[in-house]
Amino acid sequence: MGSGLAEVIAKGGMNVIVRSRQQASADAMVAAVAKGLDKQVEKGRLSAEDRDAVMSRITAVSDLSALADCDLVIESVVEDLETKKALFRELDGIVKPSAIIASNTSTLPVIELAMSTGRPDKVCGIHFFNPAPAMPLVEIVRPLSADDATIAAATEFAKSCGKGPVQVLDRAGFIVNALLFPYLNNAIRMWEQGTASMEDIDAAMKGGCNFPMGPFALLDLVGLDTSLAILDALYTEFRDPNYAAVPTLRRMVAAGKLGRKTKAGFYSY
Ligand SMILES: NC(=O)c1ccc[n+]([C@@H]2O[C@H](COP(=O)([O-])OP(=O)(O)OC[C@H]3O[C@@H](n4cnc5c(N)ncnc54)[C@H](O)[C@@H]3O)[C@@H](O)[C@H]2O)c1
Repeated sequence: MGSGLAEVIAKGGMNVIVRSRQQASADAMVAAVAKGLDKQVEKGRLSAEDRDAVMSRITAVSDLSALADCDLVIESVVEDLETKKALFRELDGIVKPSAIIASNTSTLPVIELAMSTGRPDKVCGIHFFNPAPAMPLVEIVRPLSADDATIAAATEFAKSCGKGPVQVLDRAGFIVNALLFPYLNNAIRMWEQGTASMEDIDAAMKGGCNFPMGPFALLDLVGLDTSLAILDALYTEFRDPNYAAVPTLRRMVAAGKLGRKTKAGFYSY
């Protein structure tokens, strides 16, 4: 998600610092943005001048202290609560006190991230969708601790990125994933039971519901590890059996088949 966010925010006219633990991966994210923009120029969807202007607003760093003067930091690391909490604690000590620290988490409790900092009123969720440059929605997630100014600023920020924000309370899965993931999970169950092939389930949901992609293609795009983490967080919160990840998904993650990012998931890439 990191490179997608960088593209969207820079296209919105704001300066972006992309931070990864390794300089090489921060550079790779910026290179991925450049590659995507070059394609848009080739297809005539973006002018060369606009591409250069967007790229000039993006910097890649590995040192967290480079974020000290940012007005907004959006955390988008692996979907693991303890990892995110540790990062929020660290960011809180580095980023200026007036800054908002937001998470792109898909399901985790934003209040726990907020309470890891000394500024819980200035923490919220800013949840983009994948691929961020193409998807119009952003969910603005309000934990119990957030003040109105934080939610208003996050909403304005999403609009500046050309997105259509919606506001939602801090409940696992927010709006979209709480409704989407029982469907994805049940699609795997249907395939496990031999009801239909993966290809036919995907074709049916595209042709019958006018969805742009079927559930297996979508799971591979989201990432099977991220999908499993989302289901586990939903199940932990609601104890609804529809959120209990089917065994196949857990085994595929254990086998390192994570979807597009490992070139193998339900499909091969
Ligand atoms: N994949 C999606 O469709 C999607 C959509 C919306 C939101 N999200 C959310 O975005 C976040 C990232 O998801 P992703 O799909 O990009 O995952 P990913 O696995 O592609 O990337 C996660 C990155 O986090 C890095 N990382 C792990 N621990 C770190 C740490 N301590 N400090 C810095 N970096 C660390 C990893 O090296 C990796 O590069 C998650 O919270 C996820 O829920 C994902």
